[in-house]
Amino acid sequence: MAVLVTGGAGYIGTHTVVQLIEQGEKVIVLDNLCNSSRDVFSRIEKICGVLPTFIEGDIRNRECLDKIFSASSIDSVIHFAGLKAVGESSQIPLDYYQNNVCGTLILCEAMAAAGVKKLIFSSSATVYGEDAPVPYEENMPRGKTSNPYGASKAMVEQVLTDLCASDPEWSVALLRYFNPIGAHPTGLIGEDPKGIPNNLMPFISQVAVGKRKELSIFGDDYPTEDGTCERDYLHVMDLADGHVSALSSLDENGVHIYNLGTGNGLSVLEMVKTFMRITGVDVPYTFADRREGDLPAFWADASKAEKELGWRATRTLDDMMEDTWRWQSNNPNGYEG
Ligand SMILES: NC(=O)c1ccc[n+]([C@@H]2O[C@H](COP(=O)([O-])OP(=O)(O)OC[C@H]3O[C@@H](n4cnc5c(N)ncnc54)[C@H](O)[C@@H]3O)[C@@H](O)[C@H]2O)c1
Repeated sequence: MAVLVTGGAGYIGTHTVVQLIEQGEKVIVLDNLCNSSRDVFSRIEKICGVLPTFIEGDIRNRECLDKIFSASSIDSVIHFAGLKAVGESSQIPLDYYQNNVCGTLILCEAMAAAGVKKLIFSSSATVYGEDAPVPYEENMPRGKTSNPYGASKAMVEQVLTDLCASDPEWSVALLRYFNPIGAHPTGLIGEDPKGIPNNLMPFISQVAVGKRKELSIFGDDYPTEDGTCERDYLHVMDLADGHVSALSSLDENGVHIYNLGTGNGLSVLEMVKTFMRITGVDVPYTFADRREGDLPAFWADASKAEKELGWRATRTLDDMMEDTWRWQSNNPNGYEG
């Protein structure tokens, strides 16, 4: 039996594919490469000695999905495919709803037709909304999201919850990620954003490697210890392991919701300073205005995943910094060399 990984050529997908292969799983990747590169596969092969099956295609292409499900015996699906830039989602909301919501509907229809009813979905801490108290706990209701990206994640969570209620054969894990950073310790795979990075760590590491002049820190007057935003950063390898652990939760039917985070909030300024300390490389920064929609501080209550899945983030902040820097300095232009 194989695991179908949609979006498996992307940042979190590649790391998860590696960990699945290392656990002896057979993996099939479906990705349209709209935000990734075909080069990831030779890198994955270098790391684990196995080349996963890759199908270039779109989750919205029902014919393509039907072919995949009929050609291989697939047991479960890990669904990463989607668009993820929060700011862009306000400019092109239809693309976000089309890709993230319609894409998931089509995927679920194809799964149901093929009798494959085990799904892990990439959700996000953003579904807790603007007013939730910290730390976020899984039993809190979904809140008001401030952008179409967040709304698309909340909608898909609702769709999958309704699907499980309608058909008890489905089992779905909604994994709410906090802020994944870092890279595989070999430095062979990592985060390779197209254009200007939206996230903090790729921005820091691109400044460090000389690709960008300086880092803008959005807001220095938040009600936090040093005035900059606080987030729950976790190593992408821990996040990948979380998916391997969550596969076991699918043996029980119904919806399973897990926060995947460390349970600690760290400020943007602490992140920049730690990166400089660990790498010895200077990262010039300036303060800019707050960015619309950014919340001051949030982090996970990560105890449910530990209790029920036996999963806990174990890599340290120093590991996250070292691995980010190894990836970025070995691949200054990402997968393009
Ligand atoms: N990175 C984060 O900080 C973060 C946080 C919370 C949730 N998530 C979610 O996790 C998932 C993976 O995130 P990532 O950081 O690896 O993003 P990514 O952009 O690196 O990976 C997504 C992959 O999906 C592919 N894709 C997009 N639309 C597709 C489609 N219609 N058909 C087939 N393939 C398609 C892209 O080419 C890309 O390879 C996304 O759903 C994202 O919303 C990410």
